[in-house]
Amino acid sequence: MMNDDESALDDPVGRSLSGRHAHLAKRLGRAATYLTEVATFSAVSTDPDRRDWADLAALLGPGAFADMFSSPAVPPPDWEPVFSLDGRQMIWPGDGPSVLPRAEPDTGVVELGTDDVPEMLSLVARTGPGPFWPRTHELGTYLGMRVDGTLVAMAGERLRPPGWTEISAVCTAPDARGRGHAARLVGALATCIVARGERPFLHVAETNTGAIALYERLGFETRKQVTFRGFRTP
Ligand SMILES: CC(C)(COP(=O)(O)OP(=O)(O)OC[C@H]1O[C@@H](n2cnc3c(N)ncnc32)[C@H](O)[C@@H]1OP(=O)(O)O)[C@@H](O)C(=O)NCCC(=O)NCCS
Repeated sequence: MMNDDESALDDPVGRSLSGRHAHLAKRLGRAATYLTEVATFSAVSTDPDRRDWADLAALLGPGAFADMFSSPAVPPPDWEPVFSLDGRQMIWPGDGPSVLPRAEPDTGVVELGTDDVPEMLSLVARTGPGPFWPRTHELGTYLGMRVDGTLVAMAGERLRPPGWTEISAVCTAPDARGRGHAARLVGALATCIVARGERPFLHVAETNTGAIALYERLGFETRKQVTFRGFRTP
């Protein structure tokens, strides 16, 4: 049965940390953050009070980076803004036929694991799909495309609020672009997500018009505009 409840998408980090990523979380009161090297994302309650912000500050330590992802919550004035980036959240529609490209067994799609981390980090450094850390692949399934043994493209599962799985770290080496690698990898992940009764979603920077066009061509629809924000704790 396909999930139609979109409320979890308004707090994707918090709902992941309290649910399927609880084993990768540090918590204090209603504040939570990912383990170091998995992700920098943190969450407070959707209606945080001073106590919640104090708990997150205690959890992260003084002068630490608090990556609040897409949360619109405003921290106390002594939390210094570090970055702000406009983007959009896109979802796979619950109705309508799947037009996802299939990942045939012979197309070089492989599942990536701990041994592949140096190559994954190198590909991320060359392509800049968004934040990625040495243990990010523990958040879900990461798929790669190898050509002559070299990793040229990858994509994986990141946030996992109830009923949904986020597709992330979508990137293709510059000299391997335009051959459908990203489409095939996103399609393969989305097919698996839909098969387990969930729906795929993703986030993309507003300036990344090429990626937005790719996702729209695959069938993703914009659910809402978001602003990614980071702060420094007092
Ligand atoms: C966005 C990105 C992942 C796309 O990777 P890609 O492997 O080139 O993507 P695809 O090949 O599946 O599709 C891209 C283009 O190739 C075209 N294409 C797809 N299959 C093709 C094929 N078999 N032959 C020729 N062209 C093809 C598509 O039409 C598309 O063209 P268009 O978007 O200009 O209309 C890549 O540009 C990238 O790594 N960007 C930097 C990181 C990034 O921004 N990631 C997204 C973060 S949200």
